Amino acid sequence: MSKNFHEKPFDEGTLLKLSLFEKYAQAWLPVFVSKDNSTWPAKINIVDFFAGKGTDLLGKPGSPLILREVVRAQHSSKWRPGSRVNIYLSDADSSKTAHLEALLQKNPLNIPSVNIDVAHADFKTRFQELKPILADRQSANLIIIDQFGVKQVPKNVFDEIIRLDSTDTLIFVSSNTFRRFGHLPEVQRITLPGYNRPTDYYKAHLAVADAFRQAVPPDVEYHIGSFSIKKGSNIYGILFGTKHPLGIDKFLQVAWNMDPVVGTANFDIEREGIALNQDFLFEGMEVPNKVQHFHEKLEDYIAKGQCVNERDIITLCHKHGVCRKHSTIVLEKMKKDGRIKCDFKVPDINKFREPRSLVLV
Ligand SMILES: C[S@@+](CC[C@H](N)C(=O)[O-])C[C@H]1O[C@@H](n2cnc3c(N)ncnc32)[C@H](O)[C@@H]1O
Repeated sequence: MSKNFHEKPFDEGTLLKLSLFEKYAQAWLPVFVSKDNSTWPAKINIVDFFAGKGTDLLGKPGSPLILREVVRAQHSSKWRPGSRVNIYLSDADSSKTAHLEALLQKNPLNIPSVNIDVAHADFKTRFQELKPILADRQSANLIIIDQFGVKQVPKNVFDEIIRLDSTDTLIFVSSNTFRRFGHLPEVQRITLPGYNRPTDYYKAHLAVADAFRQAVPPDVEYHIGSFSIKKGSNIYGILFGTKHPLGIDKFLQVAWNMDPVVGTANFDIEREGIALNQDFLFEGMEVPNKVQHFHEKLEDYIAKGQCVNERDIITLCHKHGVCRKHSTIVLEKMKKDGRIKCDFKVPDINKFREPRSLVLV
């Protein structure tokens, strides 16, 4: 990817990345603007630090217009009174921010509780400028870091991001760079200490996600999800980070909707050759190794008394990168065999704090 990124039509991988940003924003925003959720912060910040000029060569919307349209589509009189949405858009290229501003003015939002702010700024400067707003405990933040390459989120920046409360972050990474050029000093400078170069290039982004997981200090609860994107022979990917189980739960749902086989890539990342149009949620269907492995672990944990309620099951789902509904087949089987009793079919994320029990018989 390069400087003339916006002077060409977005390619398939870029469109998929944008679609993931859009779908996550669509799932995230209602948590904070809904009248039913008055315990969450009501100041909502959506920050796109690498906003670009707004469109590709053909006029297809880029991330800033997509995010604005998510807010426009969801705005309604049913929003929680007092909720306020700020959309912060910035880019280091002044011609791009000027173009973006002109586009935004052509089709304004006209929603008094929503403000859009466009700035010509380098990421590092802008991040420091916005940090007091992002760190405000009354704020919920969605941060998009759609960088070229790899270098914008070294360990010190990541350390700052993971300390922010109520903040979900989506980071685009050219993961193959670490795998192919990891021997170069300029790449080594930004590689995380836990990075382990995979022999299989398909796993380039999974290795980056693992390195980020290892960089989380033990005293911080932080969940990292990932989605690998293959463009030709290059592997890119999205990293998702959140402190909250609800955040990773929503990310996994979006990711599994995009990849119904293993929920993590736009290609056959496990090289299993499983057709996309199957439903793995029913007994007798071919089950991908990742899901099979999760089923075995869940059954084992339940049998050993290590999963005693729906929160334990949800936590195990998140650890294995699967959705809550993937546990259903195991729960049904164990109930049918008379080994457990529980009142739920699918563990409910809304009951995470007060989970229903699962009893071994
Ligand atoms: C991959 S593009 C982003 C595309 C955009 N999200 C969209 O959907 O159209 C990367 C953008 O980062 C900008 N950029 C490059 N270095 C930057 C930096 N250090 N700080 C902020 N923006 C930067 C570029 O001008 C470019 O518009």
